[in-house]
Amino acid sequence: MKVGPQELVALAAFLKRRSGVIVDASKAYLVEARLAPVMRRHGIDGFPALVERIRSGREPALEQDVLSAMMTHETSFFRDKGPFETVRRMLPELIRRRSVARHLVIWSAAASTGQEAYSLAMILAEHFQEALAGWSVRILATDFSEAVLARAREGLYADIEVARGLPQELRDKYFVRLQGKWSISHECRRRVEFRRLNLIEPWQGIPPCDIVFLRNVLIYFDIPTRAKILERMHGVVRPDGALFLGGAETMLGVCDRFDRVEGVGCCSYRPRPLRKPSG
Ligand SMILES: C[S@@+](CC[C@H](N)C(=O)[O-])C[C@H]1O[C@@H](n2cnc3c(N)ncnc32)[C@H](O)[C@@H]1O
Repeated sequence: MKVGPQELVALAAFLKRRSGVIVDASKAYLVEARLAPVMRRHGIDGFPALVERIRSGREPALEQDVLSAMMTHETSFFRDKGPFETVRRMLPELIRRRSVARHLVIWSAAASTGQEAYSLAMILAEHFQEALAGWSVRILATDFSEAVLARAREGLYADIEVARGLPQELRDKYFVRLQGKWSISHECRRRVEFRRLNLIEPWQGIPPCDIVFLRNVLIYFDIPTRAKILERMHGVVRPDGALFLGGAETMLGVCDRFDRVEGVGCCSYRPRPLRKPSG
């Protein structure tokens, strides 16, 4: 099914308004490929009818399906390695600093199907089990898309998904075979709280965080949207905490409220204290 230029513009505007995500108008084929299964599921026989039904505003399930299908949910366990190794190395100092409160919060802010949050849970289980015994440790994992969150909560991954980035010893230790797939262990699953959160809407229920992974999502937004999100992030990441972006993402020219801190094959960002207005 071909998408016409008018429908493409309408769908792109809908996606931008609701999620901040920008689609490249030259990529009609991508929209067609991603929305064809959604249209089949909802019994819609062409793009004009799809746009009309979205415009009616009476089909929230269809709207969610369309928005989620137009997004990229690409992820993998320990994606890019560096950020995870950096977290592993920064945790001893963070744990020392929090030894009175005995409380840590980690937020995976565009969690997709959960591999990022479960990778963080595996780091805690593998290296900090003893140090964090008796602590309250929360890993919050949020995403726009209910569909990917349902998969994340299920924690069931195909061979090809665990083959990407997950060391075999961790697979054997933190997964069990179930229905021909790999199911994340109870130990890691119980640490992660999945919930829906749209980054361009108010962030209800997000506490001050020690570590935030906001990775591979800002690239889909325009610069003003990135700037707004990063400015809000400044108020969420604790002053001695760390924010991680994706390998192709940068603060340069977008937000000057963070200092860059060198990590292992990557960098993280620390909130810069805001100067008090003089006088
Ligand atoms: C490419 S994945 C990144 C997954 C993971 N952070 C990683 O780096 O592997 C981007 C995710 O951002 C989510 N997303 C897109 N727009 C969003 C928004 N406005 N609010 C929250 N999540 C959003 C998508 O649903 C998708 O799962």
